[in-house]
Amino acid sequence: MQKKLFIKTYGCQMNVYDSARMAEALAPLGYVPVDTVDDADLAILNTCHIREKAAEKVFSELGRLRVLRNEREKPLLIGVAGCVAQAEGAEIQRRAPFVDLVVGPQTYHRLPHLVAQALHAPVVDTDFPAEDKFDLLPTERSVDGPAAFLTVQEGCDKFCTFCVVPYTRGAEASRPLRQVLDEACQLAAKGVREITLLGQNVNAYHGLDENGRPASLATLMRALAAIPGIARLRYTTSHPRDMGDDLIAAHRDLPALMPFLHLPVQSGSDRVLAAMNRRHKADDYRRIVGRLRDARPDIALSSDFIVGFPGETDADFRATMALVEETGFAQAFSFKYSPRPGTPAAEAADAVDEAAKSERLAELQALLLRQQTAFNAACLGRTLPVLLEKPGRHPGQLVGKSPYLQAVSVVGLNEGIGSVVDVMIDTVLSNSLSGVPAGRPAADRAA
Ligand code: 5AD
Ligand code: SF4
Repeated sequence: MQKKLFIKTYGCQMNVYDSARMAEALAPLGYVPVDTVDDADLAILNTCHIREKAAEKVFSELGRLRVLRNEREKPLLIGVAGCVAQAEGAEIQRRAPFVDLVVGPQTYHRLPHLVAQALHAPVVDTDFPAEDKFDLLPTERSVDGPAAFLTVQEGCDKFCTFCVVPYTRGAEASRPLRQVLDEACQLAAKGVREITLLGQNVNAYHGLDENGRPASLATLMRALAAIPGIARLRYTTSHPRDMGDDLIAAHRDLPALMPFLHLPVQSGSDRVLAAMNRRHKADDYRRIVGRLRDARPDIALSSDFIVGFPGETDADFRATMALVEETGFAQAFSFKYSPRPGTPAAEAADAVDEAAKSERLAELQALLLRQQTAFNAACLGRTLPVLLEKPGRHPGQLVGKSPYLQAVSVVGLNEGIGSVVDVMIDTVLSNSLSGVPAGRPAADRAA
């Protein structure tokens, strides 16, 4: 019998990927994905533990699910998956004993079995199992548009002192080259044109090739670029320490590799970087950026920043501002430091007070916004190739992405979703661009 599955995804792109794979795992049980929880038989929150705010959202959402379940006749199974499940399985049972199912990121291939069990009694599975979930999940992938995510690496062995990832996602592991290529071929055969390779530390990828030798991310990308239909490749998230020579060369040599890189630096102060255990200095980052720009002059950069890390002085913060000024980012994410249970920095005695954190964040975000606005403004009048991904809000309009990951809306197209078209950018809005097909007479464009 058909049952309705509602999954709400929080956090990073890997969670988006995992949610799709959970839905695929549950399909053989008759579960069909739905967009609202109202009539669902099973609701799964796929959660994020990276900052306190993200983790707390889960408990308020669980409260809402409980109310919904109490108010309606139809039974509702409530599940928590993802990184909060992994980190706080026991806490979830204590604070939200009505939850039927808790499953971590490494055991969701067991979902069919776990859901069957949860119908009778609550279950928690937060193992780091010996088996590899990717060997056991259904190999048939569902596709949702021409741009897809593909996890190639998971977990992290870097142990930045602020970060929960090594504890929630586990030790670093790469999927074998063949397994990734098979999945990519299948996606391409179903119409996918752009693949974003995912990993918490994706550029540390070292999956085994058919001879049992580790292949680098650059090797993997060269193989992916050769798959018919694949027009664009991206990868995220990277660590500066793993920006190898061959990866930088791939930015020069592979036209399919988009000129956009999210490369978190976190801070511009060597003192703070050392306390964060980042294992690189601010100048290492500058050098990597220089080499990337030598390889691919138009590469657009994105980054993550944390302000108010324990012990961060005003001088440290000025060093971050200076690094941002010098580098110039097309976009970026910035956060106030949030102490996470179990991480080394959470024990630090020299916390920065909230007011200083807020001030620094506002100042940094103002600078980053100026840079983003300038980057977008510089696209006015340029012609950019856009991968058309979905219908826009207005009739006849399609929305896609530029090589630099900007959202672009286009009117007057002859081509459809899945095409890469040259678009002349004629309008720059705060968060997106819009334009018309390049090289066509104006009269045509209005059609
Ligand atoms: N506090 C604030 N930000 C954090 N991040 C990771 N852990 C923390 C934390 N404890 C940020 C980092 C990382 C991004 C995904 O989230 O900038 O790159
Ligand atoms: Fe959040 Fe990190 Fe887990 Fe992604 S891997 S959901 S960012 S805690």
